[in-house]
Amino acid sequence: MIKEYIDFPLQELNSFHVEERAAKIIEFDSASDLDIIFSAPNRPEKWYVLGGGNNILFTKRYDGTLIHPVGCGINIISEDNDSITIEAEAAVEWDDLVENCVERALWGAENLSLIPGSVGASPVQNIGAYGAEAKDIISRVHYFDTEECQHHTLTNEECRFGYRDSIFKQELKGRAIITSVEFRLSKHPAPNLGYGDLAAETETRGGATLINIREAVCDIRRRKLPDTSKIGNAGSFFKNPVVDKKVADQLKELHEDMPVYPTADESKCKLAAGWLIDRAGLKGYRNEKVGVHERQALVLVNLGGATGEDVIALAQSVQQSVYDKFGIKIEPEVNIL
Ligand code: EPU
Repeated sequence: MIKEYIDFPLQELNSFHVEERAAKIIEFDSASDLDIIFSAPNRPEKWYVLGGGNNILFTKRYDGTLIHPVGCGINIISEDNDSITIEAEAAVEWDDLVENCVERALWGAENLSLIPGSVGASPVQNIGAYGAEAKDIISRVHYFDTEECQHHTLTNEECRFGYRDSIFKQELKGRAIITSVEFRLSKHPAPNLGYGDLAAETETRGGATLINIREAVCDIRRRKLPDTSKIGNAGSFFKNPVVDKKVADQLKELHEDMPVYPTADESKCKLAAGWLIDRAGLKGYRNEKVGVHERQALVLVNLGGATGEDVIALAQSVQQSVYDKFGIKIEPEVNIL
């Protein structure tokens, strides 16, 4: 079913809770609705997909059409001795999917517990946490191509996943609307506890069961990250910067305790933007309505009544401070509209 609303308030539809409006918002609940919406004579010219609104910052009124999926089905589509493939529609809450997998004793999604957002957004920026990424379990992505007015399916390889990156942020940006995602989960235990204190947190709960790992991840996240229902934020505001290994080595000589992570490309390393912001002295910094979260410097927060422009001004001053101190440019992870 298709529903349209004009001059729609967005405060409840973005996790920063900024008070902007959209000229129009169209809700759809099945993939075939998109054929109708985009073949109509008044098809949207300027549009943007608004999923859960967890990774977006509105800086002004959106003068186009927000396309908002609401279909929430989760179905098993195939099964063999080793795995089950589940298809979830775009509007399924990411954590509901993870919970569903854990309840069915399926392995692969547990480290991604409690990431805010919807299934449809998960392939776009290849969401990740605690040593796992959505790409590790995504088998296929179904999308509607708004230019061809046709439905397509991409395999995992065709999605060209990278760190917080995919074809949906590149060639298909502004063109594809993801309608559902297929996930292949394993029936065999495969704990992935290498990241930070996850192994120790799981052990204190009695060992590496699916439920213990999920609870450990949820607890760590609740301790470190602000609850978006209480304080406006969009998780990590910045991506962790990927730099030449030479640059990382030089910085490491000056700052022995700086975290450096290897990447698939041996000539590059990933640095921790949270650490850089923290060591630039900005963790817990507050400027009237906006601030840098006191437990995780990667997260910018709306302390109440901030506009998108207030958040952008803070983000720019954080970027400048990190650049002045370390010579490193950090880029937003959040989509800015
Ligand atoms: N650190 C600090 N100070 C801080 C924050 C971090 O010193 O204020 C240090 C930590 O001690 C650690 C390193 O920086 O040595 C990395 O920090 P952390 O393990 O908290 O992870 P992250 O790199 O800051 C990434 C993801 C998060 C995800 C965590 C856990 C990005 C941009 N962010 O953060 O994702 O939850 O790993 O795996 O890759 C999100 O995308 O919204 C998000 C929260």
